[in-house]
Amino acid sequence: MRILPVASGKGGVGKSLVCANLSIALAQAGKRVVLADLDLGSSNLHLMLGFNVPRHGLGTYLSGAKIRFDEIIYETDYPNLRFIPGDAEIPGLANISYRQKTQLARHLIAIEDADYLVLDLGAGTGSNILDFFLLSGRGLLVTAPTLPATLNAYLFLKNSVFRLMWDSFKPRSKARALLDSLKKDGASLQRAYIPEILGRVTEIDPASRSAFDMRMSKFQPRLVLNMLEDPKDADKAQKIRRSCREYLGMDLEHLGIIYRDDLQDVALGSRIPIIRYKPQSVLSQAIYRIADKLVSSEGDEDSFLDPEYLDDSYGAADTEANVDFEAKMDYVEELLSSGALTQGDLVETVRMQQYEISQLRKENQFLKSKMAKALSQGFKV
Ligand SMILES: Nc1ncnc2c1ncn2[C@@H]1O[C@H](COP(=O)(O)OP(=O)(O)O)[C@@H](O)[C@H]1O
Ligand SMILES: [Mg+2]
Repeated sequence: MRILPVASGKGGVGKSLVCANLSIALAQAGKRVVLADLDLGSSNLHLMLGFNVPRHGLGTYLSGAKIRFDEIIYETDYPNLRFIPGDAEIPGLANISYRQKTQLARHLIAIEDADYLVLDLGAGTGSNILDFFLLSGRGLLVTAPTLPATLNAYLFLKNSVFRLMWDSFKPRSKARALLDSLKKDGASLQRAYIPEILGRVTEIDPASRSAFDMRMSKFQPRLVLNMLEDPKDADKAQKIRRSCREYLGMDLEHLGIIYRDDLQDVALGSRIPIIRYKPQSVLSQAIYRIADKLVSSEGDEDSFLDPEYLDDSYGAADTEANVDFEAKMDYVEELLSSGALTQGDLVETVRMQQYEISQLRKENQFLKSKMAKALSQGFKV
């Protein structure tokens, strides 16, 4: 079974949308999929999936009710797709105990007859979220082309690397003592420059360094850039990649881009996953493309990803950004000529977009003032 944790750092970037629709796409491709809503406390995956929430979900299970784990794995309307709903009984993944976390992870890993286990992790960088993300070396990081979203995606990866260090350094080792001393001063850990820490570990504790390198070589998360508005937005992926290379000593694969699609609001309002509601839409097609890439990479999961392959993944995403943009425009033209969209609608849409742009400009000003702080945490602009 392949575990596919989906994280983002920041909320509202489309994690749940990707989880629900990608799970359906994989199931349609013949994979047996289990999708779990680990965004406890703010679960909304059932809405994306159009699944009527049953009495018992993960929250009930974790609060110690007398139900078996397999009783909260539900069949869905989609052949090959099962669903583990979260519920609001537990205020968040961050709040479950160590024992609950290990028990939950053990149950999830032991699920039978599944090819993919997709985990919607919710927002944040708490240690529980990081631990579920690190159940696989090849999790997905969903982000959007805004500054707060890309910054949080990068910080999520930075925290994952710290967690990997922590996990690979043995208790009472010199390397662990070094991390401890940085950790006592929370601010200095956030500001810490990973290559420098690793340099010191190599000097004082080479065994810990090799243990970390082993773990790190298997850490190959993949990026999904959602909510593009125009092809230029695709550049944001390169920024995250550069920061990861320079400050985290890791490379990031690009799994694909997804445009913002207004049809999603209609799909969500009708509680129909967009991939079922409009399989031909640009958004649905982007999800199918990601599912295809996942399936075709199944063979080479354990192998080392060569830099050329990673470069290609960014080139492919750039092409997708251009091709999909044209498809989107064609679609608008089609709607206009069929009369489904009037010139008036179009004028209204442009007006709305101008308003959004002015709001974004304000947000941008505000964020610029915060950038100095972000820079000190090793984020490359
Ligand atoms: N590509 C997209 N096009 C249009 N709307 C989107 C897109 N991706 C996400 N959304 C919408 O944005 C909102 C946040 O998405 P969601 O998947 O709930 O984010 P997250 O799980 O990361 O918090 C939802 O209303 C969703 O329908
Ligand atoms: Mg969500």
